[in-house]
Amino acid sequence: MKVSIIGAGSVRFSLQLIGDIAQTEELSRDVHIYMMDINEKRLHASYILARKYIEELDSPVRITKTLSLDEAIEGADFIINTAYPYDPRFHEDGAKRWDIVTEIGEKHGYYRGIDSQELNMVSTYTYVLASYPDVKLALDIAHKMEKLAPKAYLMQTANPVFEITQIVRRLTNAKIIGFCHGVAGVYEVFERLGLDPKEVDWQVAGVNHGIWLNRFRYKGKNAYPLLDEWIEKESIEWKPRNPWDIQMSPAAIDMYKFYGMLPIGDTVRNGTWKYHWNLETKKKWFGEYGGIDNEVERTKFHQQLRKARENLVKLAEEVQTDPSVKLTERLPQIFAKDRLSGEQHIPFINAIANGKRVRLFLNVENQGAVEGFPNDLVMELPVWVDKNGIQREKIEPDLTDRIKKFYLWPRILRMEWNLEAFISRDIKVLEEILIRDHRTRSYEQVLNVLEEILNLPFNEELREHFRVSEKI
Ligand code: NAI
Ligand code: MN
Repeated sequence: MKVSIIGAGSVRFSLQLIGDIAQTEELSRDVHIYMMDINEKRLHASYILARKYIEELDSPVRITKTLSLDEAIEGADFIINTAYPYDPRFHEDGAKRWDIVTEIGEKHGYYRGIDSQELNMVSTYTYVLASYPDVKLALDIAHKMEKLAPKAYLMQTANPVFEITQIVRRLTNAKIIGFCHGVAGVYEVFERLGLDPKEVDWQVAGVNHGIWLNRFRYKGKNAYPLLDEWIEKESIEWKPRNPWDIQMSPAAIDMYKFYGMLPIGDTVRNGTWKYHWNLETKKKWFGEYGGIDNEVERTKFHQQLRKARENLVKLAEEVQTDPSVKLTERLPQIFAKDRLSGEQHIPFINAIANGKRVRLFLNVENQGAVEGFPNDLVMELPVWVDKNGIQREKIEPDLTDRIKKFYLWPRILRMEWNLEAFISRDIKVLEEILIRDHRTRSYEQVLNVLEEILNLPFNEELREHFRVSEKI
């Protein structure tokens, strides 16, 4: 069985996924992993560490590294896309590209950049409203799969998951499924309320980064009164443990009160501007750090990621010169020995390939699971996966009317605008999206910010895509 990881130089994903495979006995025997990246140095370091890691785990899994996308795709059974594209002539990662574009947005009066849009404030994940490089790469992979691996699953992990899964479904025949670990936010709820997770009957549903706890029962009874009690008696004591810890923040509680169901995971980051006007507002709603989507914490986080990457490259060099180094002892947070990462990818593969039935939360076509939305709309849903494929759970009780009318439909429309921009290649669509942005004061402001961003040297392809030269 061939499993390919695109963007395998990623700090976050590839080593964890390889560890999960190596610790899943049925897979370990049969799997050949292809690690693909465009950054040779980073790929090599990941590869050296991966080999060493599986050796320590005593796993027979085979690993090949490649710089060729075609080689990674050809004949693959599962393709995991975790790449964050960038132009190596200009920077060393996608985050840098995002930093520069955000700064220009701010200069023109768009706090946190033009891609910070209501209901989609997880802003590193969109790019000039069209997420151009990320969407383009996913489409390239999907088109290659039609020829080289028509039966494979494309396991889309790189953001924006909602936009990408939808456009790939519409424009190609590749079997794409979106993966996100945001749903794990429910365990934070159970922990803060002191509930035994095994006794909770729960569902969440919505779209990626816009999911809601529609079913919440504890020991056979409605558990929302337990949340109400926590809000009344204990929420005042709540403090975030780190910038990401916002599941039980005042913003989440405020959204719960308006929408009637609790937002889960990244959904809490994706409310309205009410929680995001400026850093001070963010601190009021998300606690002392103001969440992760702000000028202070986001900058720190990007620095940490770069540092972590540098350290891994150094560690790979060390491993090559000193074979006595034990990764599982040195860095057990990444190189786990007796614990799976919690990512859903490998349980999914094991369910499809070996029939190991499992409940997951995946981005798949709705097909009647949530009432009132199109069958072919990609939604994030509880599903059961086994050898026969994916079976959706019926969403019961239904999401509230307010979630549908004030959150999901507007968010779905944004996805449609994004796809319209990409497909039509019409810069007027980008203008029209910005005209509807509350930060916009004049049409000139829109033209100026778009012009400056599109004229960035590394945005050559984007300029061509929107045929800017003909229009301006
Ligand atoms: P990263 O920058 O550390 O790693 C991405 C890798 O992709 C790099 O090694 C880079 O060289 C490689 N790459 C860039 N262009 C490529 C191309 N054309 N072909 C192959 N490889 C290429 O990024 P990080 O932090 O690991 O994030 C990766 C993606 O995963 C982002 O889109 C991020 O938003 C997403 N993400 C998704 C989550 C989820 O739960 N779905 C959670 C966290 C991140
Ligand atoms: Mn996500």
